[in-house]
Amino acid sequence: MAAEHGKIPNLTLRLYRDLADWYPLLTPVGDYAEEAGFYRRLFEVHCKQPPQTLLDLGSGGGHNATHLKTTLACTLVDIAPDMLALSRRLNPECEHVQGDMRSIRLGRVFDCVLIHDAISYMASRDDLGQAIATAFAHTAPGGVAMFQPDFVSETFQSGAEAGGSDSGGRGLRYLEWRWIPDSRTDVYVTDMAYLLRDVNGAVEVAHDRHIMGLFPRAEWLELITEAGFQPLAVPFEHSSYSNTGHEVFLGLRAAVDKRNPR
Ligand SMILES: C[S@@+](CC[C@H](N)C(=O)[O-])C[C@H]1O[C@@H](n2cnc3c(N)ncnc32)[C@H](O)[C@@H]1O
Repeated sequence: MAAEHGKIPNLTLRLYRDLADWYPLLTPVGDYAEEAGFYRRLFEVHCKQPPQTLLDLGSGGGHNATHLKTTLACTLVDIAPDMLALSRRLNPECEHVQGDMRSIRLGRVFDCVLIHDAISYMASRDDLGQAIATAFAHTAPGGVAMFQPDFVSETFQSGAEAGGSDSGGRGLRYLEWRWIPDSRTDVYVTDMAYLLRDVNGAVEVAHDRHIMGLFPRAEWLELITEAGFQPLAVPFEHSSYSNTGHEVFLGLRAAVDKRNPR
């Protein structure tokens, strides 16, 4: 298993490197509108001040940001230069920074911090704790951080799904196959096969192995608390996820820091 602690296996993933231009066909930007609306409402409800700024860690193609930027000034951080280039084309008005969500420190705070599905790449408790600590370091007093793992231990479902879309004369179809290695309980594997059809009709086949972290709900809440937040789990309201038990985790940062009240 290639997910040794401290390494960044996703940097070798073709999807975020030489295949990055195909990413919008895998997961079209329009599909993010409903969930981005849900995140915006949660930020507005839980921030102690009207939210104006957002930091998105692991921002990928910037598909959430493109919806959120209508009311929030967005700063987008990703480890993969090719994904940042993709997002810059979609979101030229947003600030983009290359960095690792486990260690980056921008030296400023934001009303809202979002770590969307990229948090699932935190494949050890240490890595997850570091990413949550990064979120805390960038959350303004009275602000909110949000984390959305694809699965927690209690909701994980092994299995396979297919999808994809066409755009600009090109087409992509994928098979996503999720499974847990016998020797592990803290990670799952997502094997992704991509069929990439170019404008001339030629098809290339590619494969990536994504190693994702899998932690019990209680461990999430514990790590969010340890970072300094008040934790909250909220049911994910989305037309494709009704009755799946999916939740988003919030970290609420106190308006006044009890350890440093001034
Ligand atoms: C599925 S994409 C995120 C898509 C994003 N939610 C959007 O709205 O377009 C996952 C991203 O996480 C990034 N990523 C993975 N590990 C990271 C890390 N340690 N620090 C920063 N970004 C990371 C990858 O480079 C990739 O771009």
